Parts: sequence; structure tokens; C-alpha cells
Amino acid sequence: MNRRFEPSASLRGTVTAPPDKSLSHRAALMGAMCADPVRVTGYLDAEDTNSTLAAVEALGALVDRRPEEIVTRGAGLREARETAAPIDVGNAGTLMRLLPGWLSGQEGRSFTLDGDASIRRRPVDRVAEPLRRMGAQVDATDGRFPPFTVRGARLRSISYDMPVASAQVKSCVLMAGLLAEGPTTITEPQVSRDHTERMLSRLGAAVHRNGRRVTVVPVDELVGGQLHVPGDPSSAAFWLAAAAIVPGAEIRVTNMGTNWTRIGFARILERMGGDVRGALEAPDGDIITPEEPVGDVEVRHGPLTGTVVEGEEVPLAIDELPLVGLLGCFAEGETIVRGAEELRVKESDRIAAVVDGLNALGGDLEALPDGFVVRGTGGLRGGVLDAAGDHRTAMLGAVAGLASREGVRVVGMEAAAVSYPGFTRDLASLTG
Ligand code: S3P
Repeated sequence: MNRRFEPSASLRGTVTAPPDKSLSHRAALMGAMCADPVRVTGYLDAEDTNSTLAAVEALGALVDRRPEEIVTRGAGLREARETAAPIDVGNAGTLMRLLPGWLSGQEGRSFTLDGDASIRRRPVDRVAEPLRRMGAQVDATDGRFPPFTVRGARLRSISYDMPVASAQVKSCVLMAGLLAEGPTTITEPQVSRDHTERMLSRLGAAVHRNGRRVTVVPVDELVGGQLHVPGDPSSAAFWLAAAAIVPGAEIRVTNMGTNWTRIGFARILERMGGDVRGALEAPDGDIITPEEPVGDVEVRHGPLTGTVVEGEEVPLAIDELPLVGLLGCFAEGETIVRGAEELRVKESDRIAAVVDGLNALGGDLEALPDGFVVRGTGGLRGGVLDAAGDHRTAMLGAVAGLASREGVRVVGMEAAAVSYPGFTRDLASLTG
């Protein structure tokens, strides 16, 4: 579906952030691992997170989809049911990388995972390696791609130094660690989102943090209960960016998750001179709070200056870095993102997507092996941007269109439904 986004004369109002994708995946997976009922309010109804519900049902969990909540009754930690057909993860990288953690501890049972064309280009060796060290057997296509098979085993506990800062890998190993024979420790090169740690501790598991090291202690069963999924800061980031670069704009996003490991983008925008108001969670050291903080954030249009994003900040803003590229086009001076080679293995190669996509709209960007350099030109002309099946590229194109001089036609806007099915409806409420 092609869709045009015209330069916006007025962009004002309040949007409720749609439910968090990362947290919804985790809630469904942990619900499936838990024999007690788990009630989840605010579950995201989108393509990716519906893939997760279908996957856990195939594995033996019961899912009751009610209007106000979903209730899962899981198979139990050690009782995932073998599936006849491969489990279809669709476009969901998080499902593909987290689920094997649980499956690897299902002794003597085999599970095959597959997904769409984009998923088949995304590496799974990063989770296969630690799971093999724990004793599971993982066989992947060409050694590292889906479809792949996980054969569960009695798991050893390990101490694992992660080569990449990836919350998906960390979460996978933590979930496997619940089923191991002793404590499992993971060391991250840089701190990444900590949703799994928080949710596991809420469901009764012992999880400890010591700097960049996280340890989980095995349990017999997780305990059920109530989980709430707040609004997604990665989806909200499109509105924060739009407010910052569309002249005269002023947007308030309500119900946004403000977990400090997810709000790197809001901090970067502030550093670029953006007018950002709202209570964002401060880093909480080694404390693992079982709660996810929620708040309202407001951004107003104003001048921006270039910045450098690298190191520790990269995992805290990983999905929003394409938007940093967009802000850079409107900022004074140079904006540089480096140390973000992970962007090359997202739903698409997001370094190429942002550089080629925004250059085609009149931007001045240069790709680096691990990021990009943007020379601010004060604006964008507009044109055509092909989402190439990537939900975040589609929404990036839409926001670029609102702030451009001539508008942007996004090819493949339907991709937004992967994480934010209500995106164009929410936009209409702001331009209305
Ligand atoms: C996610 C972690 C990140 C992020 C992805 C969701 C998660 O991936 O890009 O959209 O929910 O754990 P990596 O772990 O590959 O960095």
C-alpha cells in the first residue's frame, strides 16, 4: 500500500502510546512458561505480538483473548508440547530469539522455527552458541539462519560473555537459565533493555544484577499473576521526533513506558536541544524493580544541533537510531551515529535504509560500517521512500513527509502493522 504524507501545517494534540512490543512478547512467552494463569492488560494487538500468541498456543498454552486483557494458562516450565508443523514467527525477531531459551530446556523434544523472508536473513547463531554451551542442540540453515531446530536437553548452567549487546540474547539465556542445574550468569558488553529481568522477578524468579553481569537462579515453576504492558517508547519516538521537526508542532504522548533502558532517544533529542518535558526514569544501578514505570512526555518544535551517539547509548536507543538520522537532517551541524553495526541485521539493513532513504528525500547522509554521518541541511525536500517491508522505515518515511517541503510517498506503508497498526489513525488525530 502506497501512502502520501503531506507537509503538516499543524501537528498538535495528545496521543496514547500503543502497547509495548518488547514487553508484550515477553508477557506471552512467560505466561506460556507458567502453569498458573497470567493476566496481561495492555497486550499489543499487532502482527508481531499475534505471532507470539499463536506460537505459545501451538506449544500447549491456552490463551483467552478478552477485550480488556489476555489470560494465559501455560504448559508449565518443563512441559512445552512438541509441534507437528514448524513454529511460524512471522516477522518477529524477538520471538525467534527468545523462544529458543525456553525450548532448549524441554528434554528430548525438538522444535523447528521459521518465519518470513526478512526473518530468514536474520542470524540466530548469537542464541545458538550459548544454548549449545548449556547442552541443547541447535541446527540452523547455513549454520546461522532460520529455519532452525532446537532439541531440548537437561541444561548446564554457564557464565556467558555476550559478544554483542543484545537484549534478545540476554533474555534467551536468562530464560534457559530458569531450567538449568544452577545459577547462570551473563555479562553484557553494554547494558541493554532490562524488561526480562524485571518481568522474571515479578513472576517469582531470583534475578540479580551486578554492573554488566546478570544472574538468574533456576526455579521449579514461575508463579502466575498480573502483568501490565505500558505504551511503547519506540512507537512513541515517531511522535517525539515529529514534534521536534515539524514547525509549530506540540505533541503530548501519554502512557509511555519510561524505563531508563528504553528512553535513550528522548535523552538524545534533549541533548540536541529538543524541548522534551516529562518524568523519565533515572538509571537505577543494580536494583531490578519488578515494575515498569509509565509517564507522559511532551515535545515542542524548536531548533536542534547535531550530536554524536556511540558506546553505552547505542543499545538504549537501538530501534530509534533511524529517527536520530532524521533529526540530524533538520539539525545545525553534523550528527554521527557509530558503534551501531547491529542496525545492519534488524528487520532490514537499517543503516542502508536510513542513508539511502533520507538521501532520496534530499538529505545529506553518508553510511559508515557501523552507523552514519548526517550533515544537517535544515530540512528535507521530500520524494518517495520504500519501506522494503520494515515497519520502522515505513513510519520514518511518514514523519519525514510531515516535516518535508514537498511531502513523501511511502511505498509499503502496511508494514507499520507489525508494531503500530493504529499509526495513521493516530496521525490523523494530530493533524485533524
Ligand atoms: C529487543 C531487543 C533489540 C531490539 C528489538 C527488540 C527485545 O534487539 O532491536 O527490536 O525485545 O529484546 P537486539 O537484542 O538484537 O539488540
